[in-house]
Amino acid sequence: MGAGKRAVRVGPQYPDPLAAGHDHGGQVHEAARLRQVEPHAILDASASINPLGPPSSALQALSDLAGLVRHYPDSTHEPVRRALSAALAVPTDHIWCGNGATEVLDQLLYTLRPRRVCIVEPAFSEYGRVAARHGLPIERIAMKPPFSYPADRLDALLAEGDVLVFNNPHNPSGRAYPRSEWESLFWRWAARGVHILVDEAFMDFLPDASRFSALPLATSVDGVTVVRSATKIFALPGLRLGAGIGSPSLVHKITSLRDPWSVNQLAQAAAVAAYKDAAFLQETWQWLEGARAWAEGTWGSHPRIHTFPTTANFMLARWPEAAVASHVAAALWNNGVLVRRLHGSLGLGAEWMRIALRTPEENVRIWRVVQAALDDS
Ligand SMILES: Cc1ncc(COP(=O)(O)O)c(C=O)c1O
Repeated sequence: MGAGKRAVRVGPQYPDPLAAGHDHGGQVHEAARLRQVEPHAILDASASINPLGPPSSALQALSDLAGLVRHYPDSTHEPVRRALSAALAVPTDHIWCGNGATEVLDQLLYTLRPRRVCIVEPAFSEYGRVAARHGLPIERIAMKPPFSYPADRLDALLAEGDVLVFNNPHNPSGRAYPRSEWESLFWRWAARGVHILVDEAFMDFLPDASRFSALPLATSVDGVTVVRSATKIFALPGLRLGAGIGSPSLVHKITSLRDPWSVNQLAQAAAVAAYKDAAFLQETWQWLEGARAWAEGTWGSHPRIHTFPTTANFMLARWPEAAVASHVAAALWNNGVLVRRLHGSLGLGAEWMRIALRTPEENVRIWRVVQAALDDS
């Protein structure tokens, strides 16, 4: 911060993003309590959730079926698996569901019990937490900006019995890796006895997902499994639904071990409606195209902010120094806006930030606060 400039004054309620318990964005309830407002008064740009959702089709399904909470959920998940099968063009016997992508990842690592979990960082922190929960050794492979896929290093490292966790599109950079970049490597590593988990939690945001997705491999190679999430694209993080797509024998093994009732009936009903709602996806892709173009012309062209081209509904920004990032984050907090600071476990420094793309009005509101904070620093 320049000499003579005032720091943004923040109240004692400002949550220290370095403090324990801030491994994730989306801490809306905690923020609302601290600011003494209702959760919907917080503008959450820290979790990357589709601002157009939940789709009205999903909300309708919820209100129609709320009475079903008096029964145990459908433990076969059959209607959701059929809806996923139609949406992803994958046979139902390759699909199982979990309570969010996070539970699906947990079930996978628990069932596969690999020799090592190899995580390309920066990465979603639950990969490491799940591995640690199951006592699995972790190997971290750092990826530096511009986050090119570290194919050679992985090829030298991966050995029989390893699990590789690969996130595409990548959180937090927003970079998507086309199949041509990794397909032949996946075949080679799978033949070596490596199991590849491809976390495609944000893949539905890409209108041309078929160029990037590993689904064709997940249904033809035993050593490749894809993880999908309904929570981001359909804005259902509070209900939670994730899916795994892999070999029928792996699906059978996981479903015979898992908690039969972890996916509640309301989540199942909402997801069935949402996965059938092709118009909602079209609307989302149209919104995202506009939001990305807007972000490029504002954040992307500011001389003091370095951003990376994103394919997803969030963008990664680097400030000239950590103090500027703190100053901007504090100004946003004072205006009821949450953003995701990225440091420590993600392998990025405190000068990095991830911001979700929101509605046009919300994006402008966030940008105005950022501009004012920068003028003041
Ligand atoms: C890359 C990635 N995968 C998976 C998840 C978890 O998704 P879910 O809410 O379905 O558990 C997240 C959530 O932030 C994520 O960023």
